[in-house]
Amino acid sequence: MRFPEDVPTLTDDVVTLRAHTVADIRPAYDVCQDPEMQRWTTIPVPYERQHAEQYLTEFIPAGWREGSSWAWAIEYDGRYAGTIDLRPQDGNVGEVGFAVAPWARGNGVMTRALQLTVGHAFEQGWDRVIWRAYVGNWGSRRVAWKCGFRNLVMIPAGGVARGVRKDEWVASIARDDDPQPQGHWWKVPLIETDGVRLRALRSTDAKRLTEACNDERTLEWLAGLPKPYQLEDAEGFIESRLENLASGEGVTWAIADPDTDDLLGCVSVFDLTNRIDKTMGEVGYWAHPEARGRGVMSTAVRCVIGHSFTPVEDGGLGRRRLVLFAAEGNTASQRVAEVNGFTGTGVARAASPARDGGFRNLHGFDLLRTDAGVP
Ligand SMILES: CC(C)(COP(=O)(O)OP(=O)(O)OC[C@H]1O[C@@H](n2cnc3c(N)ncnc32)[C@H](O)[C@@H]1OP(=O)(O)O)[C@@H](O)C(=O)NCCC(=O)NCCS
Repeated sequence: MRFPEDVPTLTDDVVTLRAHTVADIRPAYDVCQDPEMQRWTTIPVPYERQHAEQYLTEFIPAGWREGSSWAWAIEYDGRYAGTIDLRPQDGNVGEVGFAVAPWARGNGVMTRALQLTVGHAFEQGWDRVIWRAYVGNWGSRRVAWKCGFRNLVMIPAGGVARGVRKDEWVASIARDDDPQPQGHWWKVPLIETDGVRLRALRSTDAKRLTEACNDERTLEWLAGLPKPYQLEDAEGFIESRLENLASGEGVTWAIADPDTDDLLGCVSVFDLTNRIDKTMGEVGYWAHPEARGRGVMSTAVRCVIGHSFTPVEDGGLGRRRLVLFAAEGNTASQRVAEVNGFTGTGVARAASPARDGGFRNLHGFDLLRTDAGVP
């Protein structure tokens, strides 16, 4: 291919992908000063003007001529807004890479650019396009998810940037795949009612979360928690909630005091991608010792039930059935289920591992969307 004559222009009338020109050197250099750009890509740091010159006037034209990489300038709002490239590999499979200028982010630019690029790759005979990103690059992951990339896996130390190995996410889309999001990427809606606020967990909740999970009663009934429960455990839990949402697996709320915003407890609906029943969810919770005995959890669970049974198109989780389990002897937890209209489904014998190495009986409960009294 000749550069720039043979570079195809791709457009959806909002975003245009075209051949780079020397006028893009300056804005490309500016984009590469962005700390996010340096964190999530392999560009040299510090990034100097000569790097941009070399990339645009040597590397990119050579890529087109030799067929080793096809890089387009992304034009948005009449300006250079970033670069996206396809790197063909053997066997009709290749990889995609992209970056957009900070000023253009959050406008759907990269989603559009990726849709155009993937469509072009399949027109050119590719069978599969692979996307890779360092773990934690949620913006990139969401763009890939929106464009239908799927079967995401995490490869420990799978990536490398400037000589340092990094954990990496990898996902792909095949020619015949529907280019639509696969599975849910849940949000954590803010719910305020009857003296209780349900909101997303934040890093500032880690201290109260550690207190709550170091409490003897919490540790007794939630035998899977590390003992002692450290600040790092709390931070890891808070951090892992994003993965939970993005994978469609579950939603966790902080239960907060509406006046002080202090953490009173935690409530989750999880197992939302259950292999056998994708319409169910399991409710789980714990309360900070200071918040117990005043109906906080019963109210919080009522809110979660409402959100769980709300159809997906109305912003809810679209659940048909909720389940809840409490170990024998955990009266307070069983009470929360009962006051919220759950029906006891029986006792599973020796089903709940205890901290002393033994097993307790486990009381099961369920609630159907069609049950009387469910709003
Ligand atoms: C990642 C990046 C390409 C996203 O570009 P963008 O044009 O802002 O993406 P879009 O506007 O198409 O956003 C798509 C979705 O991702 C969401 N998103 C964007 N950044 C996000 C972030 N940091 N965290 C969570 N979601 C994010 C957007 O809200 C949007 O979702 P919505 O439509 O449901 O609101 C851009 O932030 C970037 O260039 N980052 C630095 C370089 C980089 O990381 N490249 C990818 C290397 S693998």
